[in-house]
Amino acid sequence: VERVFSGVQPTGNLHLGNYLGAIQRFVEMQKNYNCIYCVVDQHAITVWQDPKGLQNAIREVTAAFIASGIDPKAHIVFNQSQVAEHAELAWVFNCVARMGWLNRMTQFKEKAGKDKEAASVGLFAYPALMAADILVYRATHVPVGEDQKQHLELSRDIATKFNNDFAESIASHGFEEGFFPLPEPLIQGAATRVMSLRDGTKKMSKSDPSDLSRINMTDDADTIASKIRKARTDPEPLPSEEEGLKGRAEADNLVAIFSALSGRLVADVLGEFGGGQFSTFKTALADLTVAKLSPITAEMKRLMADPAHIDAVLADGSARARTIAAPIMNSVKDIVGFIRAK
Ligand code: AQP
Repeated sequence: VERVFSGVQPTGNLHLGNYLGAIQRFVEMQKNYNCIYCVVDQHAITVWQDPKGLQNAIREVTAAFIASGIDPKAHIVFNQSQVAEHAELAWVFNCVARMGWLNRMTQFKEKAGKDKEAASVGLFAYPALMAADILVYRATHVPVGEDQKQHLELSRDIATKFNNDFAESIASHGFEEGFFPLPEPLIQGAATRVMSLRDGTKKMSKSDPSDLSRINMTDDADTIASKIRKARTDPEPLPSEEEGLKGRAEADNLVAIFSALSGRLVADVLGEFGGGQFSTFKTALADLTVAKLSPITAEMKRLMADPAHIDAVLADGSARARTIAAPIMNSVKDIVGFIRAK
């Protein structure tokens, strides 16, 4: 069975974009793959995090995973910093990746803002750590949102260069050619890029200063309904055909969210609501969002009341993750030419 790896950063404000673009997909993939789902706390600190807030956010992402339907016994759920092999392989990959490759990463440019000199070195090197997260398990499939596509391509470039740079050593240690597989991004579904409710050209994001821009996984029913009511739209009624959504970013986004939450095709959704006013559609969308999220939110709350249990899940997942990562990391050390006690 092929191995899936993916991660979510514990940086607070988990939102509907994270759910539809990532977590909901994680749940589906459990049927056909061995899945490893990671709370990537080392990625989170590429931007300063309040230590108490970080602990809480790590538990919240874990609770969201479990409450959404991820089974931490059948699969693996853990936090990145508990498996040292991620950072170890990241160092090797820092030495494989080229400055020029990382310079092209749009997420770094966006997150670093105008003053690049003041950004952390970690924020710049983030994609090399992400490549290590995936490849330290030799995972082949990575379900992510559209925004992570460029980072996944970089992971493939790093894997390719490692395989080439050390081809002779890989062979001499008896490993098959192409020691690292080239991980495949799985960017599928109706809402791979959920946009802000206030601006249909910006993605829904944890760090948007406006809370009205996103639906948080911890929002209650009234808050969800009010945010959807206030969501920006244009004055035209909804179109009856998909074509009519072109150039109407806000309408397109709300219909995509409806489609992803209901599992219905966009054409089908427009068949029901096309020609009608936004207010009717927004009421239906709010009801649907609440119906889908409220059981998850309630379960997250229940889980968050017992932090010791969450920590135990993470400790157990980390121990199991380590049993996969450690032998792969040992092989990397042998391939690179490091000496280690055997
Ligand atoms: N708007 C989105 N639509 C669809 N998928 C999304 N993801 C994030 N935003 C959207 C996907 O969620 C997974 C986890 O993301 P992350 O927390 O690791 O990092 P991120 O992409 O940086 O998330 P945010 O919310 O945008 O945070 P900030 O504001 O800090 O940048 C990934 O699979 C991602 O694709």
